[in-house]
Amino acid sequence: MKKHNLGKSRLQVSPIAYGFWRFGGTDVKTARTKVETALEMGINLMDHADIYGVDGGGQFGDAELLFGKVLQEAPHLRDQMVLGTKGGIVLGVPYDSSGAYIEQAVDNSLKRLGVDVIDLWQIHRPDFLGHPEEIAATLTKLRNRGKIKEVGVSNYTPSQFRALQAHLSFPIASHQPEFSCWAHEPLRDGILDQCLELSVTPLAWSPLGGGRLAQTTGDLADGPDKNRLINLLKVLDQIAEEQGKTRTQLALAWVLQHPAKPIPILGTQRPERIQEGAGALDVTLSRTQWNAILVAAQGEPLP
Ligand SMILES: NC(=O)c1ccc[n+]([C@@H]2O[C@H](COP(=O)([O-])OP(=O)(O)OC[C@H]3O[C@@H](n4cnc5c(N)ncnc54)[C@H](OP(=O)(O)O)[C@@H]3O)[C@@H](O)[C@H]2O)c1
Repeated sequence: MKKHNLGKSRLQVSPIAYGFWRFGGTDVKTARTKVETALEMGINLMDHADIYGVDGGGQFGDAELLFGKVLQEAPHLRDQMVLGTKGGIVLGVPYDSSGAYIEQAVDNSLKRLGVDVIDLWQIHRPDFLGHPEEIAATLTKLRNRGKIKEVGVSNYTPSQFRALQAHLSFPIASHQPEFSCWAHEPLRDGILDQCLELSVTPLAWSPLGGGRLAQTTGDLADGPDKNRLINLLKVLDQIAEEQGKTRTQLALAWVLQHPAKPIPILGTQRPERIQEGAGALDVTLSRTQWNAILVAAQGEPLP
């Protein structure tokens, strides 16, 4: 995979990332296979968060700990990757971006991952009580001390992004919103426009709608969005058939094709599906096809 700079930083990242939200269990061999498969496919950007583990029935920090065990067993893998993680979600609070908390979160992630430096440290969600000046001073300190290389945000609004950027002397490298043909708000909420304006790399979380876009239509649960989703899946299937690709490859290609060059973060835990996801880079959608997918997703024509 051809690498490019993450935002204006010097980090060289693949156009597709691998994410660790669903990374669980205790078996280091299975965990290592997932990481190695991603790296073999040319995927070098790894997206963690300190809280990953909790949603899989585990504990805060479990995904980072398991990943740390993989790196302990195979230390040579560390140099092949751009290691990203996030912090700032605290169970029961639920957000804390105070300087003291961020410093502690970074130290704890470094320990769990067993590394000297985090390549990309991201604020997981905005903390309304966090002052951007204090956040920026803390991130600058951590960067100057060599604990983190670059900074990103996730789930920020464009104005929250701008407020933080105003207090930093270096550019924020990435912004991570949910973005897929199912969750396409970043097209219009200003996030992708801001990424284009400031040369920030968008990282697209849940690029398959958290698995919705991979479902068979017969299995869909009833709900107000059911018919719209069925229609979207039909349109994706039709174009996939024309192109000789899979539906999930089409859905990922739709994300990849936005001019801001969003990096879809694959969430599958199955090595063969990591390989399938990498195949999305071979898909080119025409403007008509890209728009047809958007129209099906939003359930109404473009004006
Ligand atoms: N910043 C944030 O707030 C935030 C929030 C959520 C996620 N994220 C990031 O985004 C990453 C991806 O999120 P996600 O896991 O929801 O991504 P996703 O790719 O949209 O969904 C992955 C889910 O789809 C399922 N799936 C079913 N068929 C599939 C197929 N053919 N190919 C691929 N997957 C298939 C996977 O199951 P199998 O494992 O069985 O394949 C998995 O449960 C996370 O790991 C995390 O790094 C960030």
